[in-house]
Amino acid sequence: MRLAPSILSSDFSRLGEEVEEIEKAGAHVIHVDVMDGHFVPNISYGAAVMKSLCGKTALPFDVHLMIENPDQYLEDFVTDQTEYITVHQEACPHLHRTLQHIKGVGVKAGVALNPATPLSVLDYVLEEVDLILIMSVNPGFGGQKFIPSALRKVQELEEIRRKRDCGFVIEIDGGINLQNVKKVTDAGVQLVVAGSSVFGAENIGRRVNEFLELF
Ligand code: DX5
Ligand code: ZN
Repeated sequence: MRLAPSILSSDFSRLGEEVEEIEKAGAHVIHVDVMDGHFVPNISYGAAVMKSLCGKTALPFDVHLMIENPDQYLEDFVTDQTEYITVHQEACPHLHRTLQHIKGVGVKAGVALNPATPLSVLDYVLEEVDLILIMSVNPGFGGQKFIPSALRKVQELEEIRRKRDCGFVIEIDGGINLQNVKKVTDAGVQLVVAGSSVFGAENIGRRVNEFLELF
């Protein structure tokens, strides 16, 4: 089980310090939320912000592209520290090709599903993906409430993973806190994104520890 704090909820004026704090406390991965104002109704930051952390932290990057035409920007997000690049199924008419493109640039390939998107859309690419990100809020903003049907989606995905003997990691993103994290990890989640619950805490290092105690 790994914890991936989302820097979307960090204090951007202290990004380096806050990332150092979560790294010292034992967080495993940095979740990088990229929003374009088209696929989602908000703009966040681009590759330059992520790259400013290269070498300042040893943590790997988990890039979540909430953008249209992700193929056009993939290369920008490739660094020595980039572990996953995840695109949205809803933004990729040629998803199979996009997944090959991600792997072709030497990074693990992830696909994200919005809350209303069924698992069945991934039926024919399950063997191609390294990670499936289940959105438990509608993408676009930090600090939203967990949508309960995401839990059933994780349980069903875990069942599929077992039956088909697939190697993908299950990630959850949106509204995760100390109260509900155990439920999603029990259901099969291995990579947990937490934004406002980490960076909104009075002591972000201690909050990371509290999460890790529940893993
Ligand atoms: C939502 C983003 C999430 C967000 C999570 O569009 O993909 O990664 O930062 O933030 P919380 O944990 O506050 O819901
Ligand atoms: Zn995200």
